[in-house]
Amino acid sequence: MITKAVIPAAGFGTRFLPATKASPKEMLPIVDTPVIQYVVEEAVASGITDILMVIGKGKRTLEEHFDRSFELELELEAKGKLKELASIRAISELANIHFVWQRKMLGLGDAIRCARHHVGDEPFAVLLGDTLMQSLDGVPATRQLMDVHDRFGGCVVALEEVPPERVSRYGVIDGDALDDRTYRVRDMVEKPAPADAPSNLVVASRYILTPDIFSFIDAAPPGKNGEIQITDALRARIADGRPMHGCRVRARRHDAGNTLDFIKTNILYALQHADIASALADFIIEKADELRGGERL
Ligand code: G1P
Repeated sequence: MITKAVIPAAGFGTRFLPATKASPKEMLPIVDTPVIQYVVEEAVASGITDILMVIGKGKRTLEEHFDRSFELELELEAKGKLKELASIRAISELANIHFVWQRKMLGLGDAIRCARHHVGDEPFAVLLGDTLMQSLDGVPATRQLMDVHDRFGGCVVALEEVPPERVSRYGVIDGDALDDRTYRVRDMVEKPAPADAPSNLVVASRYILTPDIFSFIDAAPPGKNGEIQITDALRARIADGRPMHGCRVRARRHDAGNTLDFIKTNILYALQHADIASALADFIIEKADELRGGERL
């Protein structure tokens, strides 16, 4: 049973300036809830009880968000806002959440390495803190990976098919399909040029890792962008003859660290939000009609 998760959340958010100058990108709201809360909720719904967030400079509000806020609770209680009170309290009761600081921005592999003492000798999940995975069948994406880990053991990555011209933004795998969703991974490469990519199946922000990964992270030289890449550590682990699988997850990925995806994700989630869905739909239809009519908005 995998009960521990690591959420790397130390990156600067340079694709989302100026909003992320003083606020963590993980705290940007999708409708009324910060991205990181959806990520924690996915972990918890997958059976995780213990979470370590790897944070860096300017990320203190992440700690505050998951801590209790007695003043706010008293205020809400006094005003009889019991629904809000319950939702605020629930955040601090989601899981045991711990924080560790990544001292230098040395890459995702290094961020995961900061969790070594926390995870000890158990397999653990990794969920990137700026990316939502909206399940398409009710089974959380991380749980889908755990199911593959239960079948085959070893490390597991979430996979997504992308158009070939977009592979250079991701870790890309070379693998053999075992069924329509599961792949045995033969090799992987971080952010290749499209011409060098072994496939268009890319790593999509969720991992199950076994503790032997740490020695491969230690041995990994700086890779793409001069950073310690988890992809390189996984690749060395495969070369060492250890099993690795990929699962094309039944989930839609929303990368909230990029402005266009962030806005689209907000619209999608808002259209499922009981209080505002119908007013927003009216607004979108009105604007679409104006656009079709050639009006400038
Ligand atoms: C990281 C990983 C990459 C993966 C991507 C999306 O890249 O290094 O292998 O495909 O996340 O999960 P980043 O988006 O941090 O550059």
